[in-house]
Amino acid sequence: MKKFLLVCNFKMNSVALSEYQNEVGQKQINNLVLCPNFCDIKEYCALKPNGIMIGAQNVSEFTNGAYTGEVSAKMLKDVGADFCIVGHSERKKYFYESHEQTNTKIKNLIAEGVTPIVCVGEDIKKDEDFAVRFVLMELNQILKDIDLSRIIVAYEPIWAIGTGLVPSNKHIELVISAIKKYTGIDMVLYGGSFGENNYIQIASINGVDGALIGGASLKPDLICKMQSEID
Ligand code: PGA
Repeated sequence: MKKFLLVCNFKMNSVALSEYQNEVGQKQINNLVLCPNFCDIKEYCALKPNGIMIGAQNVSEFTNGAYTGEVSAKMLKDVGADFCIVGHSERKKYFYESHEQTNTKIKNLIAEGVTPIVCVGEDIKKDEDFAVRFVLMELNQILKDIDLSRIIVAYEPIWAIGTGLVPSNKHIELVISAIKKYTGIDMVLYGGSFGENNYIQIASINGVDGALIGGASLKPDLICKMQSEID
């Protein structure tokens, strides 16, 4: 099958490194990014010799200084993160992250050589036209003055996150194709209830270059099974 990137967002959960190590063993694993919580990033870098890449789930919009509780893009780079998820809908919903803040975070990450994985997606389940309009409007604001050759986009309909609901193949294909046409970005992932029952189907959709995975990330056996079957 085609090259398909799996990005695993553990969210505010812990998965013991040994669980992933047991599944991976001595194997070389392609196209897999694990994004544990900040505290576990350094430890998870132990999987890099197996080809696994490591990411963070968020970054500060500030570069350094008196910002209690924040983690900068440089700190992520120094600890070993290759990627960072930005603008996730949970950041917007619970922490009121604005498009402007997401834009600044993307710029800070690019400056440090960490690849941003930029999340967009409509909040209400409607037709493809609505989704395309919603997502392009978001991208228009989030990607202002950004070097588009340096980022990955994840199309995540908010109504599909953690709900078990997934848009039709046609819906995903149309929205991702519109994102690519509008931005020229060639790496666009799908996210939202990606898992055991739909991974083969979603991985075969034209134009989908990978998946951003939440809940299923907590099952290293499932992630390694999906990775080996899709790869
Ligand atoms: P989910 O989460 O796979 O649990 O739906 C996806 C996400 O939040 O990125």
